[in-house]
Amino acid sequence: MRLTEAELAAWGRRIGREVRPPVFIGLRGPLGAGKSVLARAVAEGAGVCDYLPSPTFNLLFRYEIGGYESGGRGAVIHADLYRLRSPKELDGIGWNDVVGDEEAIVLVEWPERAGAHLPGERWEVHLRYAQGGADLREAEIKSFGDPPPLPGFPARAR
Ligand SMILES: Nc1ncnc2c1ncn2[C@@H]1O[C@H](COP(=O)(O)OP(=O)(O)OP(=O)(O)O)[C@@H](O)[C@H]1O
Ligand SMILES: [Mg+2]
Repeated sequence: MRLTEAELAAWGRRIGREVRPPVFIGLRGPLGAGKSVLARAVAEGAGVCDYLPSPTFNLLFRYEIGGYESGGRGAVIHADLYRLRSPKELDGIGWNDVVGDEEAIVLVEWPERAGAHLPGERWEVHLRYAQGGADLREAEIKSFGDPPPLPGFPARAR
């Protein structure tokens, strides 16, 4: 499915509003593919207000979702493993807590860097540059194990 940035963001916001944590979503694709665009939209949809631009230099950010009206939704965790040199470094960023967090929507860019440390139950969204326009991305979605449903794919901008 080919998506504009507005469509990708609309899909992300819908995921943020509707998905039931815990859920782990790996975001694959080359530099500039739109992984952070999608992650930011999910955070927005989940009710995160103080979103930071990109976790590139810190690897991982956790956003509490306090007082969100749909209630009881804990956190959005956004990680970017691009700078991870070895899966062994995951211990240092509290990876086990992230994967084991029962209340979080976890979004991880460059999930392949985590190797065997990825959770068995997860989604992977693969974004690629699409032919037919610099501002289009091809999005492919795959589930591993039995993750909770991801709403609304493919999305239409609203
Ligand atoms: N259809 C589209 N979907 C998403 N982003 C798009 C689209 N068309 C153009 N863009 C632009 O592409 C860029 C995507 O940047 P983004 O930071 O999300 O990439 P990324 O996949 O996170 O890269 P990195 O691996 O460097 O973190 C943004 O500048 C965005 O405006
Ligand atoms: Mg990014």
